[in-house]
Amino acid sequence: ALLQSLNTMAVPAVARFLVEVTSQDQLTSALDWAREESLPVLILGGGSNLVFAGDYPGLVIRIALQGRSWEQVTDDSAVLVLKAGENWHDSVLYAARSGYRGIENLALIPGTAGAAPVQNIGAYGTELCDILQSVTVLDRQTHAVERLTVNDCAFGYRDSRFKREPGRYVILEIRLKLSRSASLNIGYKDLQEYFGEASGSGLTPLEVAEGVMAVRHRKLPDPSVLPNAGSFFKNPVIPLAQFKALQLAHEHVVFYPVGESQVKLAAAWLIDQAGWKGYRDARVGVHNRQALVLINHSGGTGEDILRLAAKIKESVWKTFGVVLEMEPGVVGGL
Ligand code: EPU
Repeated sequence: ALLQSLNTMAVPAVARFLVEVTSQDQLTSALDWAREESLPVLILGGGSNLVFAGDYPGLVIRIALQGRSWEQVTDDSAVLVLKAGENWHDSVLYAARSGYRGIENLALIPGTAGAAPVQNIGAYGTELCDILQSVTVLDRQTHAVERLTVNDCAFGYRDSRFKREPGRYVILEIRLKLSRSASLNIGYKDLQEYFGEASGSGLTPLEVAEGVMAVRHRKLPDPSVLPNAGSFFKNPVIPLAQFKALQLAHEHVVFYPVGESQVKLAAAWLIDQAGWKGYRDARVGVHNRQALVLINHSGGTGEDILRLAAKIKESVWKTFGVVLEMEPGVVGGL
C-alpha cells in the first residue's frame, strides 16, 4: 500500500500491509493478526511528525477512531474527550466555539488528537500537558486498556513516555480539562504583535485561535502546498555555562531561559545564521520564512530529507558547537 498521501512530507514509501481502524475491536484484531504473522506494527495518525526513510516492512495501522464528548461539566469547566482519530485543529476550533479556553494557542497544528501526547505538542506558550487530564491507552505488553495520568506520561519539551517507549502503547482517547474563565495567553511575541493593544481579557478563545492561525499562516507552510513535517529539529537546551560562551561569540543569539541552569536556543536562528534559510536543491529544501521547517519541493524521498537534515546538523555543529536533535520520528527503510 502506498504511504505518500499518508505522510505530510509526501515522501514515497510502501507499506507491506495497511489497515484503517474505526473501532477498538478492529484495532485489536489488526494487532492480533500482526502478532500471528510476526509483523512489526506502525501506528499512524495524521502522518505529520514522521519521515519514512524507506518502505515499511510490516503492518501500518491508521487510527480513525472518531468521536467527541463532554464530561464533568460544571458552570465553569468541562472535560473534552477526543477519540484518537479526531483531527486536532478541528477539535481546537470546536472547543473554542463552544466557549472553552485552554487549547486555542494550539490551533492549526496538523495531525490527530491521539498523536498530540506523543510529542506533547506545544505552541505560543501552551503545551498539551498543561491542559491534559488523562490518556486512555491499549498497553500492547499487558493487553489492558488503562488511563494514564499526566504524571504517568512523563511529559517534557517535545517529549513523553510514548516517545521513550515506542510501540508499547496505542492511544485510544485523550481527556482535556478546559475552562470557560481561564485567562487567555497572548504573551508570545508574535501574538502580542498581532493583537497590538488588545489585552487577553477582552478576547474570546476563538479570536485567539484565529490570531494563532494568522501568525502560523504567515510563517509556516501549508503541508498540502509545500509538503513538510513542521519543525524538523527541537530547540536545543544547553547548560548556562555553554550559553555564556556562545553569547560572547554571537551576541544576537536568540534564547529562552529554562530554569536557573539551562537555556533553550531558537534552532531556527542557528540554522538561519548558518546560511540555510531558503536553501534548496532539485528536490528538497529549507523554508524561506521559517528555517526550522524542511520542505519536500519536488519528489524528494525520505533519504533526501534526512541527507539535508544531516548537512544542516553538521553545519550548525561546526558554526556554533550545538547539537541539533531531530523532532519527527524516522521509520521504515531497514
Ligand atoms: N528565527 C530566525 N530565523 C527563522 C525563524 C525564526 O532567526 O527563520 C528566530 C526568530 O528570532 C524567532 C525565533 O527564532 O523569534 C523563534 O522562532 P519562532 O517564534 O517561529 O519559534 P520556534 O522556536 O522556531 C517553536 C516551535 C513551533 C511553534 C513555535 C511557536 C519547536 C521545535 N518549534 O518554533 O512548533 O509553533 O515555537 O510557539 O519547539 C512544530 O513543532 O512543528 C512547530 C511548528
